[in-house]
Amino acid sequence: MTLLAHLSDSHVGATDHSAQRLRAVLAALPAGVDAILLTGDVSDHGAPGEYRAVRSLLPASALVCPGNHDLRAEFREHLLGLPPGDAPINSAHRLPGLLVLMCDSLVPGEDYGLLAEETLTWMDAELSAEPELPAVLAFHHPPIQIGIELPDSIRLRETEGLTALLDRHPQVRALLCGHVHSPVAGDFAGRPVRIAPGIISTMQLPGEAGKGKFDLTMGPGFALHVLEDGGITTHFRVLPVEGVVL
Ligand SMILES: [Fe+2]
Ligand SMILES: [Fe+2]
Repeated sequence: MTLLAHLSDSHVGATDHSAQRLRAVLAALPAGVDAILLTGDVSDHGAPGEYRAVRSLLPASALVCPGNHDLRAEFREHLLGLPPGDAPINSAHRLPGLLVLMCDSLVPGEDYGLLAEETLTWMDAELSAEPELPAVLAFHHPPIQIGIELPDSIRLRETEGLTALLDRHPQVRALLCGHVHSPVAGDFAGRPVRIAPGIISTMQLPGEAGKGKFDLTMGPGFALHVLEDGGITTHFRVLPVEGVVL
């Protein structure tokens, strides 16, 4: 069994308490997780100080990919400690019995997402190297509609390449995304899609009671993915809002 803690959308720098919400989530994770994933919108403005704040909180082993609120050069330099550069930030991680691909779906200057040809080629090569090894693909923008107008308008576009990739690689067990600030389970091209709750806020469906589209009064949350026997089971957690105020 592999246990993944899936976090997303910390947006550190968005509010006075954004870092506190990330800290609360990290403190709530169970012992024994095999990896911590953070699927983008790590910072709110892509500012160096926001990345340094996240870096001081996240375990060094945490796996990250950028979102539309992130800036590649700053993300590389101040979160990952790498030389600046503007190429997609893709990384492969081999856990016992599981390949995790952290993929860059951001389009500079845009809120919608795209898996660039360069990224799809890289994913294909990584998956082809060990076709028997179960894998999960993590990227910020979900390839599915979720029933909320704003995120649906800025979801992953041009998904034909992703569909073709999944057709070639049946070992991909799930797609792990963020971006929509709501715990969501769906499917794409026959594979489970799991979207982590937003740490900074919760986006609501039309008609739900709350404080608007981005509800800051709900607590931060995370997902726990159990990968076992070829499948994925997901447990969503939402923390009490006390102590992690707006
Ligand atoms: Fe976000
Ligand atoms: Fe986003």
